[in-house]
Amino acid sequence: MSDTTDFFIEKFRRNLEVADESPRYFRPRPYRNAAVRFRKCSIDDFEKRRDILVNEAGLNAFLFRAAMIPGCDLLSDSGTTTMTMEQWAAMMLGDESYGSNEGYFELINRIEDVFGTGWVDTSFAMGGYSDSLFLFHQGRAAENAFFTILARELRELPEVPVPVLSDGLMPELKERIQSKLDSLPERRRSTDEAMFIIPSNSHFDTTQGNIEDKRMIPLNLPCREHLEKNEEFLFRGNMDLEELENLLAVEKERVPLVYLTITNNTGGGQPVSMENIRKIREITSRYGTPFFFDACRFAENAWFIRKNEEGYSDKSIKKIVHEMFSNIDGFHISLKKDGLANMGGALVIRKDGAFYKKFPHIREGFTDYQIMAEGHPTYGGLPGRDLKAISEGLRTVTHLDYLDARIGQVVRFGQKLSESGIPIINPVGGHAVYIDVDKFFGGTAADEDFKGIAFTGLMLIAGHRVCELGLYAFGSYDGKTETPPSPRVNYIRAAVPRLAYEDRDLFSVVEAARILADNRDRIPAVEVKYGRALSLRHFKSRFDFKE
Ligand code: F0G
Repeated sequence: MSDTTDFFIEKFRRNLEVADESPRYFRPRPYRNAAVRFRKCSIDDFEKRRDILVNEAGLNAFLFRAAMIPGCDLLSDSGTTTMTMEQWAAMMLGDESYGSNEGYFELINRIEDVFGTGWVDTSFAMGGYSDSLFLFHQGRAAENAFFTILARELRELPEVPVPVLSDGLMPELKERIQSKLDSLPERRRSTDEAMFIIPSNSHFDTTQGNIEDKRMIPLNLPCREHLEKNEEFLFRGNMDLEELENLLAVEKERVPLVYLTITNNTGGGQPVSMENIRKIREITSRYGTPFFFDACRFAENAWFIRKNEEGYSDKSIKKIVHEMFSNIDGFHISLKKDGLANMGGALVIRKDGAFYKKFPHIREGFTDYQIMAEGHPTYGGLPGRDLKAISEGLRTVTHLDYLDARIGQVVRFGQKLSESGIPIINPVGGHAVYIDVDKFFGGTAADEDFKGIAFTGLMLIAGHRVCELGLYAFGSYDGKTETPPSPRVNYIRAAVPRLAYEDRDLFSVVEAARILADNRDRIPAVEVKYGRALSLRHFKSRFDFKE
């Protein structure tokens, strides 16, 4: 079909003939396989995969049939968990009653157990109905409900802040917010429309999308160490406290709440320290501003605190999680990550916290939204059996032996990639390894060649799926000019599903990537065939290799 891909297929095939070089392992995994899934395809079918990639999927990793991946599918760690036998057993006992099913009560008790007291009413004084736990079918549905109802409340405020920024803002911060304002359509800038800002260490893209959709400004305040790519700094997920303090000091009426994503997915899966969490609490309390987590990977974040922050090495993960969550007024969570489940999401708001004090009537809005969009609040778009699986998953995810094995595996995978000469974000985060595309090509690849897409395409031919999160995913095109993301991000993410693969599987991904690294000058450019100017274009576009 093509000389270049033939060249790589020959290399991938020859590599399979090399004798296996086993690493040394001293500790067995803390679990054993209880069910396995045989592949429906063979690693040797390189030409077949190339055919599907080019002719069916248009080089788009999202559009490639999962059943044709014989190696590791590292597209996402979300909903891709292998569930435990205990979870499967719990599912068999699912209660599919329409209202107040058994799993709902179990989950309420589990939330108190995992996240600490004060979150939910375990006396069930209001029967099977909680005004602090709102269930949704996944994380982004919880985000959508939250920002839809919040925007409605904000419109009702007696005085709304107009889009003229204070001169008291730090110049660089002001410029960043102003450039976001300037990129809004003219119609919105020229009116007196309210302008609210939602800061975070870094918003995930669905959170950002939901905030923008409700006409608010998502603002990322990552710490200096992260921006400077400091590889020695162990908490690169932290927020920049100086910028947060300044923002609240001069613009607090614009900031309905402050967010922290734990771990910081967009910034490389990097953890946030307890010290940073505590200081954000101090700052937000001083200004009466509610403080929330996007808590998808809360247990992984707690593991990093235990390992790397002074004073935590002898504390249990559960104790650390309780302390983390004692600092906040609410959180939303995709239970497809550290819920160890295949589906599920929730919004949880502290009954006596700053958010309900600031918006005392908002809870009814969330419940009404649930009833209109998801179902009765006691199941929130989820089968009763899934609630049981989530409840059991939340029990397992805080076990230290599970987290040691989980994050240890991701770190070993990252180290092997590094040893093979593949540049990655260091230190390695909790759920994924991020390959630095700019460094990989040593600055020789033209932006519009989208070589990150070519990389993911060649990896699919090799038998593994990874995902471009860089110039194509975050850049944009107006029909004439391509604009790269600002600040520039250009990564390929290899997200590791929980409890799904063994190290040897991941090391075979490293081998395929090493072949690409050894022959990086032969990696072709790609041409965008469809969708370059679309929103969320990386999910929909089609490409071809340029020869
Ligand atoms: N917040 C974070 C930090 C996430 O990583 C995700 C999803 C969501 C919110 C949305 O949750 O998928 O249940 O609707 N992240 C996935 C990923 C998709 O691959 O990183 P969801």
